[in-house]
Amino acid sequence: MGGSLVGVGVGPGDPELITVRALRTLRKADRVFSPTMAVDAVGRAESIVRQADPGLAVERLVFAITGDDDTRAVAHGKAAERAVACLDAGEQVAFVTLGDPNVYSTFHHLAAAVLERRPGTPVATVPGIMAFQELAARAGTVVLDGTQTLSMVSAVDGAEALDGPLGDPEATLVVYKGGRHLPEVSQRLQAAGRLDGAVFGELLGLPGELVGPVGDHADRPATYLATVLVPPATRSGARHS
Ligand SMILES: C[S@@+](CC[C@H](N)C(=O)[O-])C[C@H]1O[C@@H](n2cnc3c(N)ncnc32)[C@H](O)[C@@H]1O
Repeated sequence: MGGSLVGVGVGPGDPELITVRALRTLRKADRVFSPTMAVDAVGRAESIVRQADPGLAVERLVFAITGDDDTRAVAHGKAAERAVACLDAGEQVAFVTLGDPNVYSTFHHLAAAVLERRPGTPVATVPGIMAFQELAARAGTVVLDGTQTLSMVSAVDGAEALDGPLGDPEATLVVYKGGRHLPEVSQRLQAAGRLDGAVFGELLGLPGELVGPVGDHADRPATYLATVLVPPATRSGARHS
C-alpha cells in the first residue's frame, strides 16, 4: 500500500522559523494540505508556507474550529476522505500546522480519521517551533532552570484553567487559547502574585504582532492567537537582558 501522511509544524508565524526539515518535507511531498475555516480563506499555516516558498502548491482542507463535537467530526471526516483519495493514489501527503503538530493541533484528528478509513497508513510528524518559544525569545524570558517544571494550559473555556498550575510557585506556566479571557488571566496572575515578569505575545511573527508585559495588554480581550508566559514565582522577571 503506497501513500503516507506527515504532519509538518511550520512555526508560529515568522517564515524564518520553519525548520530545514519541514521545508524539505514539504518540497518532497506530492500534496500539501493546509487547514482553513473556508475554502476561499488563506489559513495562517498556508500563509507561512507561501512566504517561505511561494512555489509550493497548497490545497485547503476546511475544518470547523468552532461548533459542537459532531460538526467538527463531520469536517474531520470530509477532510480525511480527501486525504485518503490522495493516499490511495500513492501520494506522499503533508499537512501543515501552526507551531508543532503534536501540541493542540488539528493534525492528530485528521490522522485518526484517515487511519479509521485506511488502517496501516504510515503517519509521521515533523516538529515545529512553538509560539511560547518564540515569545520567550522575543521577551528575553528564561523558560526553565534547574528542577523547575513547565505547565501548559488551554484557557479556551476560561481563566480557571490557571488555578491548579498557579499553586506551584516553581512551575513556569504557558497559557494557550486564552486571548478572549486575557483580562481574567491577568487578574488571576495578580491575585497569585505572578503578574511580575509575565509576558504576552499576540500574532507572533504576523502582521499586528504585540509583545509585552501581560499587565500592559490586559484591559481588553486579545485575539485567539495570543500566548501568555509566566515564569516561576521564585525568579519572576528573570530575563536575558
Ligand atoms: C490550536 S493552538 C496551536 C498550537 C500550535 N500547534 C503550537 O504548537 O504552538 C492555538 C494557540 O497557539 C498559540 N499560538 C499559535 N500561534 C501563535 C502566534 N503566532 N502568536 C501567539 N500565539 C500563538 C495561541 O495560544 C493559540 O491560541
